[in-house]
Amino acid sequence: MSKSRAEGFRWLWHYLSRHRRIFIPSLFALLFTAALALAFPWFLKDLIGSPVDALREGVDPVSVVSKVNKDVLYMLCALGLQSFIGFWRVQGFIRSGEAALNDLRKDLFDHLTSLPVSFFQEQATGSLSNRISSDLAVVRETLISTVPQAARQTVILIGGLVAVFYFSWKLSLMMLACVPFVVFAVAMIGRRVKSHTMASQDALANASTVVEEVCQAIADVKSYGNETYEQHRYAKSLKKFYDVTVSGARIRGFFLSFIIFVMFGTIAAVVWFGARMLAGNEITQLQFTAFILFSIFVGASLGSFPEIMTQISAMNGASERLRGVLEEPSERQGGDLLLQFKGELSLEGVTFRYPSRPEKEVLRGITFSARPGQRMALVGASGGGKSTIFSLLLGFYPAEKGEIRFDGRGINTLDLVKMRKQMALVPQEVMLFGGTIAENIGYGKPGADQLAIEDAARVANAHDFILAMPEGYQTLVGPRGVKLSGGQRQRVAIARAVLADPRILLLDEATSALDAESERLVNEALDRLMHGRTALVIAHRLSTVRNADKILVVHGGQIVESGTHEELMALAGTYRILVETQLI
Ligand SMILES: Nc1ncnc2c1ncn2[C@@H]1O[C@H](COP(=O)(O)OP(=O)(O)OP(=O)(O)O)[C@@H](O)[C@H]1O
Ligand SMILES: [Mg+2]
Repeated sequence: MSKSRAEGFRWLWHYLSRHRRIFIPSLFALLFTAALALAFPWFLKDLIGSPVDALREGVDPVSVVSKVNKDVLYMLCALGLQSFIGFWRVQGFIRSGEAALNDLRKDLFDHLTSLPVSFFQEQATGSLSNRISSDLAVVRETLISTVPQAARQTVILIGGLVAVFYFSWKLSLMMLACVPFVVFAVAMIGRRVKSHTMASQDALANASTVVEEVCQAIADVKSYGNETYEQHRYAKSLKKFYDVTVSGARIRGFFLSFIIFVMFGTIAAVVWFGARMLAGNEITQLQFTAFILFSIFVGASLGSFPEIMTQISAMNGASERLRGVLEEPSERQGGDLLLQFKGELSLEGVTFRYPSRPEKEVLRGITFSARPGQRMALVGASGGGKSTIFSLLLGFYPAEKGEIRFDGRGINTLDLVKMRKQMALVPQEVMLFGGTIAENIGYGKPGADQLAIEDAARVANAHDFILAMPEGYQTLVGPRGVKLSGGQRQRVAIARAVLADPRILLLDEATSALDAESERLVNEALDRLMHGRTALVIAHRLSTVRNADKILVVHGGQIVESGTHEELMALAGTYRILVETQLI
């Protein structure tokens, strides 16, 4: 067994061992039922073989019948016992396996939530969760089905081999002579068959991705009239799957024909040889029958091993990837609490690059500070680095150089979770969770009661539109909040922030234009929300900018101008151009 495979099993055992009180008895029950399974050919051989021998030796037919009756009774007892124990061991395996899997799922999820934002931004989130769930499915298959199967088949194989050798060692050796041929064929051709199988699975997965994407983005597909384009794309990926599969068909066909020829050829040869031994009185009918019956069990269990091995190597890959996720370093834990936080913040010479794009300096020496309760507007062309400043303030990434401070205390000394609780972000594109409106607002402060939720909604100018909905606060917003309009979603997000009652507000103002009435309602709500808090607003509307205590013009990762509206207009620089060209 290779090292990594052993590690994979040790890791699985770590989860299973917590449920060993169920798992180990189930494993013993399994081994016992596997051994009992061999009772079936044992009694069958007596039923088929011994009457022939007995009659040939001139035993009284009446006593032959009574022995046959007894044998069948034993057989039924063994079958009954096997079924009874089987019933319990199946449950035991499912109980311990699923419990272990749930522990693993929980560990993975807990760890995922502890990872830094950068981990998620550096990979397509869809593929991360898909990969995790398909890897978990492989581990599940291994735990619930492959491990019991492997244990069972091993017992049957060993027991069966002992039996065939006991009844006729000569025939057994003959039968086993075919094994090297099969092993040789598997070693020579099996690898190529496997790589073709994998290539065709990949091609099929690519084709399924097309289906998945189209179902997800059906509105885009239809709005661009791209149905035919997608049909072609799918047909092309199906063709590729077909080609890959067909190119492996010859080798696959040869492999199967060879194995079938060797196996059935061996059976023919062994039976032929056995029949001659029987004729020459070298073995009895009973021995011959027993040999054939046990050989069937040996053959079937040998035949199940390639699949068990394939599943184990799939488990190996899956467990390696899952362990990789679990070993990703978590965000910094612990640190000072922000007690009696006043809401002052400052950045001093902050320089930053995204880890995924180290060649581009996104922020270059950003310096500014906000006093408690001050309202700052960040303006500037797209890509200037405004949202990045927010990400750094939230501690999603560490600054490369410079200092970020809250109430004069460096961000690196603070407890990240507690620090973020002092802030609320109302993002550009509000994404809601699929629950009710009340749950979505309550997310700002888990455990808040209905009254507090309604108060927050009133402040956010959301109460009236919520009551106008058929089920009021219990209305389901649909996946990602699709059942609400843009302005309504924003007001729900504002209500959430009101409920959270943070000292610092980070608002990424929506660029999408709202109608005049919604804009008024949203602005009013924002005004109330910002009252008495330090607010940083990435502004796209002149009305917001005018009301700010201070305006920062961010361009190319630097603050190129700062001051009030009047000061900056008088300066006749970038800000004035932005205003005059109506970019804000
Ligand atoms: N996760 C990321 N990884 C790598 N580069 C990024 C990432 N996010 C943003 N950038 C880059 O950083 C720069 C600043 O982006 P940022 O989102 O801060 O701009 P912005 O000022 O908020 O723009 P907008 O007004 O369009 O929202 C851009 O050049 C962008 O391409
Ligand atoms: Mg932005």
